[in-house]
Order: sequence, then C-alpha cells, then structure tokens
Amino acid sequence: MLIREATDEDWPAIWPFFHDIVAAGETFTYPTDLGEDLARGWWILSEPDRTVVAVDDAGTVLGTAKMNSNHMGNGSHIASASYMVDPERSGRGVGRALCEYTVDWARTAGYRAMQFNAVVETNTNAVRLYRSLGFEVIGTLPEGFNHPEQGYVGLHIMHKPL
Ligand SMILES: CC(C)(COP(=O)(O)OP(=O)(O)OC[C@H]1O[C@@H](n2cnc3c(N)ncnc32)[C@H](O)[C@@H]1OP(=O)(O)O)[C@@H](O)C(=O)NCCC(=O)NCCS
Repeated sequence: MLIREATDEDWPAIWPFFHDIVAAGETFTYPTDLGEDLARGWWILSEPDRTVVAVDDAGTVLGTAKMNSNHMGNGSHIASASYMVDPERSGRGVGRALCEYTVDWARTAGYRAMQFNAVVETNTNAVRLYRSLGFEVIGTLPEGFNHPEQGYVGLHIMHKPL
C-alpha cells in the first residue's frame, strides 16, 4: 500500500465510498445529502493542509485522509484529521496506516497535538483505532450525534500530544 497526495483525478474513485459513508449518517457530522461539489471542496484541501489517498499496487484507491489545523490564529498549533476507508476494504489496516501518516505529518509540521472533534461514540472501530495510536477521549458531548439507528449518542473529543 502506498499513501500519496490526492489529486483531482482521484476524486471519481473517492466519491462513491465517500458518498456511501456520509449518506449512511453513522460516522460524520456532514449533511447526509451532501452533494458532490461541496464534498470535493470540503475534502480536497490545499497547502499547507493536505489530502492523501492510500492506493494498492494496482493504483486502486482504498481510502483517503485529510489533515489540517484544527483552529486558526492562536489555536493553529493543534492539528486535526479525518479518514474514510472504502467499506469494501475496511479491517485490513488501511485506516491505521492513514492515521499513522497524519500523526507523522502533524509531528513533522511542528504541531503540538492532534485533536479529533467529533468521534461518534458508537463508531467503536474508529475509537479503538485512535486509542491504540495514543489518542484519549478528553470529553464527550452528551447526545451530540443523532445516530439513524441508535438515536442520540455521545460525540467524543479525542486528543494526542505530539
Ligand atoms: C474507521 C476507519 C477509518 C477504520 O479504517 P480501517 O481500514 O477499516 O481500519 P484498520 O483495518 O486499519 O483497523 C484499525 C483498527 O480498527 C479496528 N477495526 C477496523 N475495522 C474493523 C473491523 N471491520 N472489524 C474489527 N475491527 C476493526 C481494529 O481495532 C483495528 O485494529 P488492529 O489494527 O489492531 O486490527 C474506517 O472503518 C472508515 O472509514 N469508517 C467509516 C468512516 C469513519 O468512521 N471515519 C472516521 C470518523 S471519526
């Protein structure tokens, strides 16, 4: 697996699984009917922020991550990141590799910590992955997310000093 910069040419491969993940409404706070143009603008970031794809030997896009400052100005020393792995490719280490990549990026770029703002508490695979990489839940917004099946559940803020 290779992790490389995402280009405009990658978007057609990203959008189908991006759409399915967002439309399912279980893991992101994006509108579930998010349109493609808005989605591309939210996901494909420009310098100094980054967007990458994980590809296999055949060049197939397996997943994607974006990484950025969590806040601007005097809050810009803490990074954030988001991940989407094609559900057909999940559970094979793609998410872990993308997460490790973003942590390395943030450390190299001089950020003091990383923060995830809205990890749905029922997204146990993501929470377990982030914990295994040293992130801790530092707070949970009660009933911060309206899960389509489980109703109102908590939204974790997860943090890792770098
Ligand atoms: C969360 C997500 C990024 C994880 O990516 P992934 O490629 O499936 O995860 P990995 O294969 O790297 O697994 C990492 C860890 O997550 C857990 N995990 C992930 N998928 C799993 C699965 N299908 N079954 C069991 N555990 C799983 C395991 O704890 C695993 O640990 P291990 O490496 O010690 O086995 C991916 O499932 C995804 O894109 N989900 C939808 C969008 C999303 O939730 N994004 C994050 C929002 S905060």
